[in-house]
Amino acid sequence: MPSLLVTGANRGLGLAFTRRYSADGWTVTAACREPETATELEQLVESSDGKVTIEKLDVLDHEAIDALATQQRGQSLDLLINNAGIVGPFPYSEHLERQRFGTLDYDLWGEVIRTNSIAPAKMAEAFLDSLLLGKNPKIVSISSTVGSNAECTIPTYLYGSSKAALNKIMTMLAETLRKHGIIVALLCPGHTKTRMGLETNASIEVEESVAGMRNIIDRLTMSDTGSFTRYNGERIAW
Ligand SMILES: NC(=O)c1ccc[n+]([C@@H]2O[C@H](COP(=O)([O-])OP(=O)(O)OC[C@H]3O[C@@H](n4cnc5c(N)ncnc54)[C@H](OP(=O)(O)O)[C@@H]3O)[C@@H](O)[C@H]2O)c1
Repeated sequence: MPSLLVTGANRGLGLAFTRRYSADGWTVTAACREPETATELEQLVESSDGKVTIEKLDVLDHEAIDALATQQRGQSLDLLINNAGIVGPFPYSEHLERQRFGTLDYDLWGEVIRTNSIAPAKMAEAFLDSLLLGKNPKIVSISSTVGSNAECTIPTYLYGSSKAALNKIMTMLAETLRKHGIIVALLCPGHTKTRMGLETNASIEVEESVAGMRNIIDRLTMSDTGSFTRYNGERIAW
């Protein structure tokens, strides 16, 4: 059975990835920072016939990432989805000034960058040995068109810069891992109805977004490594 490790698996796109891949027969390590409150994920585990395992993981905690990677060493990993991400505190509408020039919140900026940009790099480093044992191994990071200079000019300094940094990090990683045959790709889920998306009136259903991304992930080849693609298959300009 192919295997997936996905971060932020307790809700939104991460939960939907877990549901979709486990339904298709994959074994899924569903990582989330508060398993004790992950009710929907727990229900999925109960109906998954052993295919889904929950692991407690805050992606800001590098020791915890290393501990999970050590625990899984020797097991092959076919797909790592770096999905966990933040914009800032909820509700966004009450904290918009923290993303705006003149009232930037620098502590929060650090947390957003550590979560959205640095944690995916740390996950890739920690799970490299398992990915090297995988079949057609892939690292997929969930980015956003908000990180594109060419396609988005909304001045959300914290979130936008974190996704732009993620894009740069993953394109560098694509070149670094090319010799190992590991494909690295960036996806934008579109404006999707998750906790994050609903804060800004999203229109795309979670299932539609994940079905589209799943389709793209299935078809990725080494010629796509370092690419940035929308859930509907459109290439996104940097
Ligand atoms: N929805 C959209 O319209 C949209 C558009 C473009 C890109 N994206 C990207 O899609 C990804 C998934 O977001 P979503 O829409 O599903 O949003 P969401 O419903 O808010 O889910 C975000 C997930 O990330 C987890 N997370 C945040 N910080 C974490 C940490 N330090 N350690 C572990 N998990 C952490 C959250 O865990 P908790 O439940 O514990 O907070 C939650 O599971 C994100 O990378 C986001 O930037 C979303």
